[in-house]
Amino acid sequence: SPAPLIDRHGRAISYLRVSVTDRCDLRCRYCMAEQMTFLPRRALLALEEIAVIAERFIARGVTKIRLSGGEPLVRRDVVELVDRLGRHVGSGLDELTMTTNATRLASVAPRLFDAGIRRINVSLDSRDPDTFRFVTRHGDVAQVLDGIAAAKAAGLAVKINMVALAGLNEAEIPAMLEWCGEQGFDLSLIETMPLGAIDEDRTDRFVPLTRVFESLAARYPLARDGHRTGGPARYWRTPWGTRLGLISPLTANFCDGCNRVRLTTEGKLYMCLGHEGQVDLKAALRAGGLSAVDAAIDEALATKPARHDFRIDAAAPAVARHMSVTGG
Ligand code: GTP
Ligand code: 5AD
Ligand code: SF4
Repeated sequence: SPAPLIDRHGRAISYLRVSVTDRCDLRCRYCMAEQMTFLPRRALLALEEIAVIAERFIARGVTKIRLSGGEPLVRRDVVELVDRLGRHVGSGLDELTMTTNATRLASVAPRLFDAGIRRINVSLDSRDPDTFRFVTRHGDVAQVLDGIAAAKAAGLAVKINMVALAGLNEAEIPAMLEWCGEQGFDLSLIETMPLGAIDEDRTDRFVPLTRVFESLAARYPLARDGHRTGGPARYWRTPWGTRLGLISPLTANFCDGCNRVRLTTEGKLYMCLGHEGQVDLKAALRAGGLSAVDAAIDEALATKPARHDFRIDAAAPAVARHMSVTGG
């Protein structure tokens, strides 16, 4: 069988994040500009190609795959992909999962569960209708809450992702933690990261999670929890028995433990969220099949950077592409 994936810093790659589309029905202010140019549809990998590449990663030791975007559920054939990759759960894959904004989750949640997904992450930056509409520019929070409720009813474990934003949702964090606790949801707080041009200055909204954590710890008993998902969050146990996760790329670098690479909708493999380095797996697959894919992956592994260089006070985004291109 082909060689396992070890980068030049000795880190084993066990986690593949796949952006199935760079498109989204929302336009969260920290993520996207109001006017976005998306990839032309002909540039995208076919579903079959995504599956073949993902299966190659499984053969090479990847045990966790997360489908994201953009918004993965706006891609029409995504449920077929979930069905296909779901067959590997329990034999090769420990976990197949998804990050979604939940606007279209209500009707598909049972199908995701049936396909083998057991846990999803949902972006929900506010439960207040006006704040939610403002942050997302187009979103209806009631629709998203329906999607979340449907996921819970379908048996999916839910983690809420909340990007902390000064003057927008920072004051709502305790209420969100309590609501998640009551609902039985984990909550991950996220520092805004400088990827892609947006219509405002991210620095103005940046909240260091060190500050948030201090105020939460003064208010609730929080116990450090060694739980690891293979993702970047560090976890605390809440009084409700749920978890609070902190994703702090700016105030607490976690790159030493990096175990992941990212496949874009166009078939490019990015080795780091914060760097431009990539190889074209679509071209490799079409020109030379799996052996060419393997060679391209090996070439990329030899260049995986030690860490991102995000700085919150930088004048320009660290990388020009938006998070939606590489799936976060
Ligand atoms: P689990 O731990 O499996 O629940 O998932 P996750 O938290 O890693 O995934 P999710 O898609 O919910 O992403 C949450 C946030 O973590 C997003 O803002 C991602 O961009 C961010 N994130 C995930 N991996 C990395 C990484 O390698 N570097 C940085 N800087 N951020 C990351
Ligand atoms: N910085 C931090 N988080 C971001 N997300 C999207 N763009 C950014 C950014 N620039 C979040 C979304 C979603 C997760 C995948 O990434 O809110 O929850
Ligand atoms: Fe869409 Fe997620 Fe970006 Fe919001 S954060 S615009 S929901 S991709």
